[in-house]
Amino acid sequence: MKAIQTTKPASLDTLRFVDLPDPHPPGPGEITVRIRASSLNYHDYLVVTGAIPTPDGRIPMSDGAGEVLAVGEGVRGFAVGDLAVSTFFPHWLDGDAPDGGFAGVPGDGADGYARELVTAPATAFTQAPRGWSAAEAATLTCAGVTAWRALVADGALKGGETVLVQGTGGVSIYGLQIAKAFGCTVIATSSSDAKLERLRALGADHLINYRSEPDWGAAAQKLTGGRGVDHVLEIGGSGTMPQSIFAARNGGHIAVIGVLAGYAGPISTVAIMGKQLKVIGLTVGSRRHQLDLIRAIDVAGYKPVLDRHFPLQDLAGAFRHQESNTHFGKIVVDI
Ligand SMILES: NC(=O)c1ccc[n+]([C@@H]2O[C@H](COP(=O)([O-])OP(=O)(O)OC[C@H]3O[C@@H](n4cnc5c(N)ncnc54)[C@H](OP(=O)(O)O)[C@@H]3O)[C@@H](O)[C@H]2O)c1
Repeated sequence: MKAIQTTKPASLDTLRFVDLPDPHPPGPGEITVRIRASSLNYHDYLVVTGAIPTPDGRIPMSDGAGEVLAVGEGVRGFAVGDLAVSTFFPHWLDGDAPDGGFAGVPGDGADGYARELVTAPATAFTQAPRGWSAAEAATLTCAGVTAWRALVADGALKGGETVLVQGTGGVSIYGLQIAKAFGCTVIATSSSDAKLERLRALGADHLINYRSEPDWGAAAQKLTGGRGVDHVLEIGGSGTMPQSIFAARNGGHIAVIGVLAGYAGPISTVAIMGKQLKVIGLTVGSRRHQLDLIRAIDVAGYKPVLDRHFPLQDLAGAFRHQESNTHFGKIVVDI
C-alpha cells in the first residue's frame, strides 16, 4: 500500500511517499478499511512540521474514512462495503476522558490514516453519517467531534441560546452548523470580509471582522443587547481569551479548544470568577460523542464545508495551503 511517513525531524519538505506492506487480515474484533480520504487539522500540522515530536516514520493524519474491505470474527455493526470513519481516541469508547494523553492517537502517538489500508479494532471506527462521501466523513473525527462535545456534551446547548464561533476553520464551521441545527443564534468572527459573507450564507446571524474590530468581545456583547453570549468556542487560546471572557454572559460557558493565538498568557481569573463562567478545556471526545454527533447529523441533514482536495502524494501541498490561511472549512486529502 501507499502511505506518507514523516522523517525525523519532521518537516513539510521531508514527508516521504512510500510503499509499505499491506496490513494483516482482520483478526477477531477487527476490520480492514480501504482509507479513501483524510482531512487536515491544525494538530496534524503540528505533527508534520515537527512541533509535536513523533518517531521517525510516523504515518500522520488523525482522520480517515473509507470502505470496509473485510470483517473479523465477532465484529458487530460493520459489514463489507460500509463507509467507516475513524475515531480520534481509539481506546476511549465512553465516559470520562482516560489517562494517557495522545499515546494512542492516530497520526500522533500511533500511526494515522495517510495510507491506503488499515486493520484495526472495529471500535476504532464508527459508521459514517448516512449519504456522506468518504471525503465528507473524513472531516468528522477531530473537528466535528470537538465542536459537538464542546457545545452539546460539555455545554448542554439549548435552542434559543447564542453561540460565538471564532474564524472559519474546521471546528468553528462545525460549531456554526451544530448551533444552527439546535435553533441557536450564531455570532461568527473572521479576519476576512469575504469569508464573513460565506459564513452568512451558512446561517451565521451576526458577523464581526476580528482584525478591523479588535474589541470583538465587546461588539459581540452589544449584539446580545448587553447580556453576553451563552457559549464561546475558544480556538485562539491565550490571545483571544480576554475577548471571549468579555463576550460571555454571566454564568456563560467558554470551551477552551485551540492555540492559534497563543499557548499561555495573562488571563483575568477575577473576571472568570466575577462573571461565574464555566471554562472547560477539552480534547476532541470519545467514540460515544462521535456516535451521538452522527445520530444528530442523520436527522439534521447538514454536510461539512469542504475546501480544496489534494492527492495523498501532495500532502505537503495541502498543508502549505493550510499555512496560507486562504482556506474555508476542511481541506481534504484523497487517498
Ligand atoms: N482541543 C481540541 O480537541 C481541538 C480539536 C480540534 C482543533 N483544535 C484546535 O483548534 C484550533 C483550530 O483548529 P482547526 O483545525 O479548526 O484549524 P483550521 O481549520 O486551520 O482553522 C484556522 C482558522 O482559524 C481562524 N483563526 C486563526 N487565528 C485566529 C484568531 N486569532 N482569532 C480567530 N480566529 C482565528 C482563521 O479564520 P479566518 O481566516 O476566518 O480569520 C483560520 O482560517 C487549533 O488551535 C487546533 O489545534 C483543538
